[in-house]
Amino acid sequence: MTQSSHPVFCAIDTPDLDRARALVAAATAAGFGVKLGKEFFAAQGATGVRLAVPPGTPLFLDLKFHDIPNTVASALKAVAPLKPTFITLHASGGPGMLKAAAEAMREFGPDRPKLLGVTVLTSLDQSDLAAIGVSGSVEAQVLRLAKLAIDCGIDGIVAAPSEIGALRAALGPQAILVIPGIRPAGSAADDQKRVLTPAQALSAGASWLVIGRPITAAADPADAARAIASELATAA
Ligand code: C5P
Repeated sequence: MTQSSHPVFCAIDTPDLDRARALVAAATAAGFGVKLGKEFFAAQGATGVRLAVPPGTPLFLDLKFHDIPNTVASALKAVAPLKPTFITLHASGGPGMLKAAAEAMREFGPDRPKLLGVTVLTSLDQSDLAAIGVSGSVEAQVLRLAKLAIDCGIDGIVAAPSEIGALRAALGPQAILVIPGIRPAGSAADDQKRVLTPAQALSAGASWLVIGRPITAAADPADAARAIASELATAA
């Protein structure tokens, strides 16, 4: 069994099976887990996940479920046999959906997949929230949805680097905080507006980090992943 030796998931954002397999190999060689999302899952499905990810590799299925409680619970049970460490769902699905999701995972025992709530997508600003009838700031909505998710039995939250401090303070030490928007010192921010280095995010209170393009868009992804692993080992 491969085990991740760093609290990092490499975001494998591709619909292509061969490319995914190559990137998974680069990430796991550095001791990282892998995150597969809608782009891969829509193209390759659960069979593709089994083909791309060796058993024992920490797997984050970023499927961001949001539907009526029964449908979300059934979808979660359908992907649980892939043995993901984490699966995402939208906290804005509300208490009924969140509780049904938490309940659906119970039958999978102590090693069950853990659920992560997505609060306000970082692509949304205050005017977008107003357009969908949400008054108040993005920050207030993030905190409201994060507390709701945890109260309903969800294990953790996916959050932007700028939200780590407020969420850790509001949710306490047990909540799992998984943080994208991470850039190793000196690498391009791409479209991420507020970034932290891996070491900064961990010392700010992140539990796990998600790192995509600094690895996947590098000329040599295995080398880029190894460099991040040694940056983390040095900072530890
Ligand atoms: O390439 P990069 O490191 O920016 O990839 C970040 C990953 O995290 C992508 O899969 C992206 O969809 C995801 N993500 C994000 N920001 C969020 C939530 C998820 O970048 N707020």
